Amino acid sequence: MASLFQRLKARLALQMRRLFRPRWLYLLAKRLRPISVMAGIDRGRPIDRYFIEKFLDARQHLVRGHCLEIKDNAYTVRFGGSKVTKSDILDINRENKEATIYGDLKNLSMIADETYDCFILTQVLQYVDDLDRALSECVRILKPGGALLVTVPSLGKLDGQEDNVIGHYWRLTPDSARYLFRKHFPAENLEIQGWGNILVGLSFWIGLACEEMSRKKLDYYDPSFACGVSIQAIKPATAPTGAPAAEVPGSS
Ligand SMILES: C[S@@+](CC[C@H](N)C(=O)[O-])C[C@H]1O[C@@H](n2cnc3c(N)ncnc32)[C@H](O)[C@@H]1O
Repeated sequence: MASLFQRLKARLALQMRRLFRPRWLYLLAKRLRPISVMAGIDRGRPIDRYFIEKFLDARQHLVRGHCLEIKDNAYTVRFGGSKVTKSDILDINRENKEATIYGDLKNLSMIADETYDCFILTQVLQYVDDLDRALSECVRILKPGGALLVTVPSLGKLDGQEDNVIGHYWRLTPDSARYLFRKHFPAENLEIQGWGNILVGLSFWIGLACEEMSRKKLDYYDPSFACGVSIQAIKPATAPTGAPAAEVPGSS
């Protein structure tokens, strides 16, 4: 864990970058490259993380028991704390030494049915070509009553190269997320919410950080300009995992 001095030094570096590369100068210059190629991480907290972490913070009660997360277990630890009895980390990328299970979301045959109380699946589905297969596996490995906590972008940089991802396939809207998830979960077990507005979208797209926006502007949601989607999906306690028929998006 970083010392207080190291954390203060890192925070000062972010503030200096914002000071010497101000957003107003960037916007006036009409540049063709983003102000940050790292989605704002070199200027502060990336804007999408504000929404992802707010979504998980409101669902701390679901992060409990045996948990699975992709790439690392930062959110399992942060939001689950002592409620977590066991924490697994899945990744398709075999270079990730933090992973405790290597595998593809589309085929998790190494994981037994009904293993997890909670699966935190943030910012991953955009890299998976066959989403139906992946979601079938997610449902299978959840215990009855278990929670799948998902976030996906509706816009943003096509990144992931550092994780050796094969493709950057999807951008989901609240409607396409509803269409997809209702094939795998009953409607009453789903909570699907978009986030963002044009200012959030523009700022995230060019790589500004949360610290450069007011909370009020971040929190304003304009459904015509959704920038990302969060999905809480609970596996039915008793019903079979078979898919109910997909319905028309927006009908719930
Ligand atoms: C941007 S990270 C997201 C996870 C991280 N916990 C977060 O919230 O940002 C994407 C991760 O998904 C992994 N990944 C991509 N496709 C995958 C797949 N088909 N199965 C399992 N993991 C996959 C990548 O290797 C990478 O570690």
